[in-house]
Amino acid sequence: MIRRRTAKDISARKGGEPIVSLTAYITPMAARLDEYCDFILVGDSVGMVLYGMDSTLGVTLDMMITHGRAVMRGAKRALVVIDMPFGSYEESKEVAFHNAARLLSETGAGAVKLEGGKEMAETVKFLVDRGIPVLGHVGLMPQSVNTYGGYGAHGRTEEEWQPIIDDAKAIAEAGAFATVLEGVAEPLAQAVTEAVSNPIIGIGASNKCDGQILVTEDMLGLFSFNPKFVKRYAEIAVDINEAVANYAKDVRSREFPAEEHTYKMKK
Ligand code: KIV
Ligand code: NA
Repeated sequence: MIRRRTAKDISARKGGEPIVSLTAYITPMAARLDEYCDFILVGDSVGMVLYGMDSTLGVTLDMMITHGRAVMRGAKRALVVIDMPFGSYEESKEVAFHNAARLLSETGAGAVKLEGGKEMAETVKFLVDRGIPVLGHVGLMPQSVNTYGGYGAHGRTEEEWQPIIDDAKAIAEAGAFATVLEGVAEPLAQAVTEAVSNPIIGIGASNKCDGQILVTEDMLGLFSFNPKFVKRYAEIAVDINEAVANYAKDVRSREFPAEEHTYKMKK
């Protein structure tokens, strides 16, 4: 039997071979990623990528549980981490524990992720001390789009550095097994990675981190979002367009279904 990766395994990889991670929301995608990823994130990006929402703020705990279960059915080897959606953890550490416990107990996943720096450190410690591994998320935090006023990169001037370094330190000291660092300039990514004791997982944060994560649909060319930090490893939307155009043509010309797709009477 293959032993599933744990939060502790990921945490032990600080400064070592880069940690590989991608997002998944459904069983077949999780099954494809499982062999290659150290951990799979069921991101609240699901709201934008699968449901057409224009931010992650409308994602619910029930959605995360449904997609978390689907991913657990496909992933046997990778650690599965589930995002805590907006509104499910900020109010108090007790509310956060209640909802994080639901995410783990109702899906079988091994950890949760929540966005926030110093202001969330006490909550992170409260969860970790009670058996819930936490992945932090600092720098650009998409659930705070309304206070930031957009999704621009952070830390591109030196005044922006110290608060982000302090956030990453507070979350690491609170016991997060690793921390996602999103949308920051390279020198800040390097400074954060050097300042903390847990692995830093970058997204739009250069190759100076301890690992990387991307939204799978972004790197496959299946979602219309294409910022500077995404490398396209496939053009799946182009393949789908071509396949659907060919299907439509074949139906209209009666070339599909052909003989080999057609049931005959029993002899
Ligand atoms: O929701 C998500 O997919 C994420 C990653 C981009 C880190 O939080
Ligand atoms: Na997220």
